[in-house]
Amino acid sequence: MNRKELVEFIATQGVDPKLLDEVEEFVKENPVKEEHKDRIPVSLFGYYGKEIWEGAIYGILSGYHILLSGPKATGKNVLSENLAQLFQRPMWNISLNVNSDSGSLIGVDSFKNGEVVLKKGPVTLAAEEGGFAVFDEINMAKNESLSVVHSALDYRRLIDVPGYNRIPLNPATRFIGTMNYGYMGTRELNEALISRFMVINMPVLEGESLAHILREETHLKEEYLSLFTRLFMDLQTKSLQGEISSKAVDMRGLFGALEMIKRGLSIPQALEMGIVNKSFDRFEREIIADVIATLFTKDLDGKELFR
Ligand SMILES: Nc1ncnc2c1ncn2[C@@H]1O[C@H](COP(=O)(O)OP(=O)(O)OP(=O)(O)O)[C@@H](O)[C@H]1O
Ligand SMILES: [Mg+2]
Repeated sequence: MNRKELVEFIATQGVDPKLLDEVEEFVKENPVKEEHKDRIPVSLFGYYGKEIWEGAIYGILSGYHILLSGPKATGKNVLSENLAQLFQRPMWNISLNVNSDSGSLIGVDSFKNGEVVLKKGPVTLAAEEGGFAVFDEINMAKNESLSVVHSALDYRRLIDVPGYNRIPLNPATRFIGTMNYGYMGTRELNEALISRFMVINMPVLEGESLAHILREETHLKEEYLSLFTRLFMDLQTKSLQGEISSKAVDMRGLFGALEMIKRGLSIPQALEMGIVNKSFDRFEREIIADVIATLFTKDLDGKELFR
């Protein structure tokens, strides 16, 4: 969706129009260099959730960095990308893992015309260009690697790379962290780091909200609306309980499947492509297929589903 569509999408969720006006001001005051415009995301999918939107927008407008914390598939990346598009910021996405070091964030020494120069990393670029740097899965990284960004994240708003000039943060620069609490391999973020963010707890999608989303986005008849809601909720429950991964709890996949059913593809085949096959584990696929089989009778005709 383009930016105008995104703004409308957020407005229809009931987000205060005055707040959205302030976002427009922010965008006007913080132009992006031509060469970085291709880093401004174009979101395929919008985040649903009025309170979360308002929290995130207030936080960003007030100059804070945002930490999105929540279980799998709660839209943390969807929201990060949406925020970068809404605020028209070039986005640098940094997937963190145990091997991430300060060099991969800030940059590394390199030679240019016989001189040592800093080959800028994503954090430095975002700092200079007023970008949004997304620290994806921030709690996968070692705390030591993140300590180099502490001065950037607090009131000092500058990156201090030993041996180079200090790099002040552009006023539009924000860091957005995502974390999946208690996931295998994650670490405790240290308090010094957490205290530098405004933290938003991402809620698990509720049946009612999903039904609402399906009602808005598809032309499903009311009885089938609840059937597809059940399907998604059952998969989500299984994922939250650790029975299956979050791969199949894919709302985009569900929408895609419905789109194909509407065009004439059979329900089982569409759900297989949109949902079941998102998992590459045979055992997991069987569990997902079972969930589908208990909800959908074989003779159900796809054409029946829509208004
Ligand atoms: N409120 C919501 N708005 C939009 N998508 C949502 C929402 N809640 C859950 N989702 C689901 O989240 C799915 C994946 O989104 P995303 O990749 O952003 O999740 P995530 O929180 O980053 O997950 P992970 O922790 O596994 O990386 C979407 O396809 C959609 O099904
Ligand atoms: Mg994610």
